[in-house]
Amino acid sequence: MILSASQVSWSAGGTEILRDITLAVEAGEFLGIIGPNGSGKTSLMALLSGIRKPRSGEVMLDGAPIGSLGRRAVAQRLALVEQQAETGERITARQAVEIGRTPYLGPLTPWSAEDDRIVDAALANVDMAHLAGRTWHTLSGGERQRLHIARALAQQPDILLLDEPTNHLDIGHQISLLDLVQRQELTVVAALHDLNHAAMYCDRIAVMQSGRLAALGRPRDVLSVELIRDVFGVDAEIELDEGGLCHLRFLTQRSQGRVKAVRPALRSALGS
Ligand SMILES: Nc1ncnc2c1ncn2[C@@H]1O[C@H](COP(=O)(O)OP(=O)(O)O)[C@@H](O)[C@H]1O
Ligand SMILES: [Mg+2]
Repeated sequence: MILSASQVSWSAGGTEILRDITLAVEAGEFLGIIGPNGSGKTSLMALLSGIRKPRSGEVMLDGAPIGSLGRRAVAQRLALVEQQAETGERITARQAVEIGRTPYLGPLTPWSAEDDRIVDAALANVDMAHLAGRTWHTLSGGERQRLHIARALAQQPDILLLDEPTNHLDIGHQISLLDLVQRQELTVVAALHDLNHAAMYCDRIAVMQSGRLAALGRPRDVLSVELIRDVFGVDAEIELDEGGLCHLRFLTQRSQGRVKAVRPALRSALGS
């Protein structure tokens, strides 16, 4: 276990946002965090990354309370890509990745050829080397997100924390980004919106509901019709394939026969 939370609670503005969360991230695993909007995924990532301190309970990184480690020490082991990662519009793609080396630089350790090598490798890793000289504002959403991952990789962390990394990407870019993350030999904790993606990529899933951990385990054990109805308020069908992967199909009112196939007004508008 390299990162863990034990009985962690957190309040903001007088309201309890996270309550009594205990989980341990195993080295090398891909842990997904799912849950509806406002269930506390981003808050939990902030606590796990040490950005915020719990009101009670403790987050441990490599056996030490994360609050007892300096920011540089944490940043050398753990990289967070935030949900709304922001980057200045005027810098180049390469400069955006160079920021990832910050925790290693200091008066006695200036920028070196080794830093260049690490940045080059990170750019190549996310297939962005050919766009290294491009200015940030000319890049697409998918390219920007790859660069945010490259910046995190340039930090040379053991653990990658990703908050909804596929937001605003089309399906092709979502899948290639998750493939890219999965092929890193890193421990990954990622808040994901798409339950099918969580089922496909995650070794384990933590389910957040109203600031609590509602379930934690393998996707096939955690993702049940009952849990999805209870946590997300949606009816679903779940299939397990031969490889043990589960696939979800969400049921709409129409698929459940509660509304007519085509609304009468629409049918007449279509002239049929
Ligand atoms: N700094 C804050 N101050 C007050 N409320 C907050 C703060 N951060 C988050 N919240 C509230 O905590 C709840 C969980 O938010 P968040 O962790 O962003 O959920 P998620 O990422 O699952 O959508 C929401 O109701 C949100 O409004
Ligand atoms: Mg969030």
